[in-house]
Amino acid sequence: MDKIRITGGVPLSGRIEISGAKNAALPAMAASLLTADTVRLENVPYVRDILTTRTLLQEMGAEAEVLPDGTATLNSAQLRSYQAPYELVKTMRAAILVLGPLLARSRKARVSLPGGCAIGARPVNLHIMGLERMGASCRIKHGYIEADTEGLRGAYILLDTVTVTGTENLMMAATLAEGETVIDNAACEPEISDLAFMLRRMGAQIEGEGTRTIRIRGVKELHGCTHSIIPDRIEAGTFAVAAAITRGDVEVVNCRPSHLAAVLDQLSQTGADISIGATGFRIRGRDQIISRSITTNPYPAFPTDMQAQYMALMTQGNGSAVITENIFENRFMHALEMIRMGAEITIDGRQAVVKGGKPLSGAKVLASDLRASASLILAGLVANGDTWVDRVYHLDRGYARIEEKLARLGARIERFAD
Ligand code: UD1
Repeated sequence: MDKIRITGGVPLSGRIEISGAKNAALPAMAASLLTADTVRLENVPYVRDILTTRTLLQEMGAEAEVLPDGTATLNSAQLRSYQAPYELVKTMRAAILVLGPLLARSRKARVSLPGGCAIGARPVNLHIMGLERMGASCRIKHGYIEADTEGLRGAYILLDTVTVTGTENLMMAATLAEGETVIDNAACEPEISDLAFMLRRMGAQIEGEGTRTIRIRGVKELHGCTHSIIPDRIEAGTFAVAAAITRGDVEVVNCRPSHLAAVLDQLSQTGADISIGATGFRIRGRDQIISRSITTNPYPAFPTDMQAQYMALMTQGNGSAVITENIFENRFMHALEMIRMGAEITIDGRQAVVKGGKPLSGAKVLASDLRASASLILAGLVANGDTWVDRVYHLDRGYARIEEKLARLGARIERFAD
């Protein structure tokens, strides 16, 4: 497995272009299962989770091509299997996103349960509950969800926890159900709105996305479309922290600053100087980083996917910050590695207290998940000496060649193949 070496101490400067959002591209690829026509996607990030989804679609019999230039061409006219096997789902739990579309179009699906995950239990009970409300019968057998239906029907579905992929799965299933579906306490993330936008292009009738109540009126069939994926707000946020933590000066372009308002607001409270335009922002780090507490919550609040990166920043703060993780119960593994680099962090359940001002020193660290990997790279950018980030596999799931982008901003960073 590849490793990345970072030699800290360089303030980043320059301009960086943000790729398409992995978390919007994944449901968009799954949505191609809803039609026999060809679906063309643009601005798809060339990252491992996307290639895993391509393989999953191909194994089901779809024609699926993803190119490094960001285009994907998908056609599911002839499916020969309705299954997402364990071998793929265990590497990417978002494979659960094929459950709703398969049931809606083919009336059956067999999807492996994701199983244990480094950042907590992450159940899929709400996906199953919603589909059952719509008339599917679901059984758990041999580690798989086996679902079938004689035809999905519209239903009222109240989600007791806000779930992003759960909302997406149910929204996709409802597009071909008979009658109207209402999803209450739905997720409001920009990725939900992007999916709704694409589904409408395919002929779906959806309203209310971006609010807590989404209404979908089922149609008989959907057709093909061309859709451009929104920019990745988490990648943009990660580069913003990279600028702040190195006291650099970076222009982040090709993104939607409004999608990361909570993150940019928080970073400006820590002292960073941020000027915002319509499709990008400029961020200048200040010598003094002010410690400020955060709490992660569903959109539009501070995202859990930026919590680890923000923790790296707080290790350099001028006081103490409390980080409260409200979405996942076990998402502080990066803290243990930061402590090995010299950070002072204490963890108590869902809260971590980060005492800033401790100089970090480079070390060999192991990343436990995607965003944890990014946070360790950020810590390495300010650490003395060399930091080696192992298991870069996680990073490659969601960031398009992050080391090349950081190197272009002046970072001393290199990938080594094992
Ligand atoms: C998505 C994102 C992920 C992000 C997360 C939270 C994708 C591909 N992934 O993950 O990057 O970190 O949203 O913003 O978009 N839950 C249940 N039952 C369910 C489903 C979820 O209890 O059936 C709980 C989870 O355990 C968790 C919370 O709901 O505590 C939110 O999880 P969810 O929004 O579903 O996360 P994902 O959609 O898996």
